[in-house]
Amino acid sequence: MLIRNATLPDGRTGIDLLVADGRIAAVGPALAAPEGVDCIDAGGWLLAPPFVDAHFHLDATLSHGLPRVNASGTLLEGIALWGELKPRLTQEALVERALAYCDWAVARGLLAIRSHVDVCDDRLLAVEALLHVRQRVAPYLDLQLVAFPQDGVLRSPGAWANLVRALDRGVDVVGGIPHFERTAEQGVESVKRLCELAAERGLPVDMHCDESDDPMSRHVETLAFHAQRLGLQGRVTGSHLTSMHSMDSYYVSKLIPLIREAGVHAVANPLINITLQGRHDGYPKRRGMTRVPELLAAGVNVAFGHDCVMDPWYSLGSADMLEVAAMGLHVAQMTSQQAMRLCFDAVTVNAARVLGLEGYGLEPGCRADFVLLQARDPVEAIRLRAQRLLVVRGGRVISRMPAATAALELPGRPAAVDFTRQR
Ligand code: FE2
Repeated sequence: MLIRNATLPDGRTGIDLLVADGRIAAVGPALAAPEGVDCIDAGGWLLAPPFVDAHFHLDATLSHGLPRVNASGTLLEGIALWGELKPRLTQEALVERALAYCDWAVARGLLAIRSHVDVCDDRLLAVEALLHVRQRVAPYLDLQLVAFPQDGVLRSPGAWANLVRALDRGVDVVGGIPHFERTAEQGVESVKRLCELAAERGLPVDMHCDESDDPMSRHVETLAFHAQRLGLQGRVTGSHLTSMHSMDSYYVSKLIPLIREAGVHAVANPLINITLQGRHDGYPKRRGMTRVPELLAAGVNVAFGHDCVMDPWYSLGSADMLEVAAMGLHVAQMTSQQAMRLCFDAVTVNAARVLGLEGYGLEPGCRADFVLLQARDPVEAIRLRAQRLLVVRGGRVISRMPAATAALELPGRPAAVDFTRQR
């Protein structure tokens, strides 16, 4: 395959990209076309590496309304609602919903997802279902699974044993939820034990950490401490970190360098944080999202996750990581040109770093996975939630969408309009 005349996220235009054996063989202007190669004209549109979702729940997705909807809109009612649904789940329904979501993901150019899977169920039904799905989708989507003790690994009877069983069966990452344990001390203990388990097994860690409006929820400090103590730098992720939104800024000025020193990745989930947090506030209402620009400025790797789509916590969404980036941009007020580009990175390269994806990018030698967007640059892609004209995996086209245009019937105006702006 030879892609002709693409624009790259770094601003280079008129670029060709040659694919051989599922990898990118060459990138540059006016490449010679080997005999018999399939040429695709990119039309000057933006060619980007695929979207990556650093934080999702594929076991709960598309279950909205089962058995009822979340009336208060809070995190805690969502957890209670999921608890009601869990005993009624079937493996077939879990697999069917997860596969349906993966179809949406592929069509949106989202080719890698880190999904938490609830292990607080002695049957491990969701674990079995998502291990099956991981294998089914492997040819077109990298699915990474996190053993997530939704009800607290110490608080929920049997959760520790179930988490270990899930890892034994091949779940990739150790999860946790320290702010949901019975006490702050138990939260600290859970972080310590889970990090030690990950170190013993050579696995990464990704915890739901401090998903709370309580400024005293400080488990990320403990997470950073154990990441450093156990030599897990670069393999530990703190997801949500919403309490940091409400913390005292003096304390945060000490905390962020500790996160940076420990090589802990941060994942914000803008759509979910802005809807679940601040629910107990009068006005002014807190936004709840963690301090994204400050973390980035300190050199912390920050990614955005979708977290939820049509489930007990969130009734909207469609696997569109550009919608996630747009919400992150607005909530964090990251409106400079450079900051908007960082929001694009948060759903592409930064998220790939969280997952530790091999061969991610558009350089020679990388996997030939990419998406052609109907936009001229990353900022325009976010502004338009740009159409995914073409999605390629391993050098093979796996999804196509027609360009978004409208046919106008207005006197004295052009017949066709698209929403991009030529400069
Ligand atoms: Fe989550």
